[in-house]
Amino acid sequence: GASYSVSYTLLIRNCGQLLTLAGGRPNRPLTTDWLTLHDAYVACRGSKIVAVGRMGELDESQITTDTQVLDAQGRVVMPGLVECHTHLVFAGNRAHEFQRKLQGESYLDILASGGGILSTVRATRAASEAELLDHALRHLRDFRRYGVTTVEAKSGYGLDKETELRLVHVAQQAGQQQPVRVVPTFLGAHVVPPEFQGRPADYLDYLVREVLPELQGKAAFVDIFCEQGAFSVADSRRYLQQAQALGFWLKIHAEQLHDMGGCAMAADLGAVSVDHCDYLSLEDAARLGNGGEGQTIAVLLPLVPLFLRQEKYAPGRQFIDRGLPVAISTDFNPGSCPSKNLWLALSMACLKMDLTPREAIAGVTINAAWALRLESEIGSIEVGKQADILVLDVRDYTEIPYWLGENPVRQVVIGGCLQD
Ligand code: NIG
Ligand code: FE
Repeated sequence: GASYSVSYTLLIRNCGQLLTLAGGRPNRPLTTDWLTLHDAYVACRGSKIVAVGRMGELDESQITTDTQVLDAQGRVVMPGLVECHTHLVFAGNRAHEFQRKLQGESYLDILASGGGILSTVRATRAASEAELLDHALRHLRDFRRYGVTTVEAKSGYGLDKETELRLVHVAQQAGQQQPVRVVPTFLGAHVVPPEFQGRPADYLDYLVREVLPELQGKAAFVDIFCEQGAFSVADSRRYLQQAQALGFWLKIHAEQLHDMGGCAMAADLGAVSVDHCDYLSLEDAARLGNGGEGQTIAVLLPLVPLFLRQEKYAPGRQFIDRGLPVAISTDFNPGSCPSKNLWLALSMACLKMDLTPREAIAGVTINAAWALRLESEIGSIEVGKQADILVLDVRDYTEIPYWLGENPVRQVVIGGCLQD
């Protein structure tokens, strides 16, 4: 009998442009070659997408009185945004340092004077787990309203075993208490804590010995900040190799403020992503572009140079031309980017990194999913994928980077459920 639950639970019809973000080369991150369907529909059953096509091909027999029907009325429909790099869990803010920055102090000077990341560490260590969870949930609600349906969340403001484990736990809890998917990453190696001042290698050994074994099954990724005033390339390599041996996937913050070779080192180890890359050389970018299976993604964060008053932005256009796929993220954190507006980051990637609108849209969806190793579940509108879908208030995708700083989201669907 055809009566048992074959019908659609949600149907989004009359999509003027359905940006599928599907259709590139199999098993490779995308650039521009994704498919747009005009006058299209997307149908879901439960949490999954079960049909995608032109309105003329819609199988009306799958629509019952139980089907929730959303009429997009000719608007743009696209996958939920994937935010693949944030420092979601922290306490306090750094508005006072914003003043110092406006008066000309640099990010690394503020850090060297005991402020910066270390000032957020003090506030975070002093906060209760309930307060941290409360802040994280508020930020996730804001992200959801921007149409962000997955958020990666790094630890890194504890810098001791107890607090770092608490931050990962808070990220996990936050993921369970609201609809946005949260992907925890361990960034205990953010900077050297006061307790290990002048002994970076000892601190990393402590993390490997005391903390990484406690994280198995709780965080899939291990990340490190490779920079002057943080960790050297040699120390970073040793740490990442040890993390990899314990089964973690790798990420790195590198070439943010100087070209030290951290991205190339991490890519050689098979890192899933290399993040920031503002000072990455084109020679290294070309080398990273030849990754084949297990291709490393460059995660570009254009709101960070803006907020740090830095001239140099990652040359995303040239990265893509050299075969290095890029994702775009905010880097949401209290120091270098207090913004959750991934749409603004997308626009800035076009304006300052020379991405095309199509490349930038891939950067906040399917390529960001690749940067989280979730490309088979999220990031595109394809049969079998999770039904994370946005209806936007625009009728042509070129308007997405154009309305600078606005939120184009009209409706958000997560796992087949329309959000309020
Ligand atoms: O990705 N650069 C290192 N870490 C963060 C900033 C953290 C902070 O300033 O609190 C980043 O930019
Ligand atoms: Fe970051």
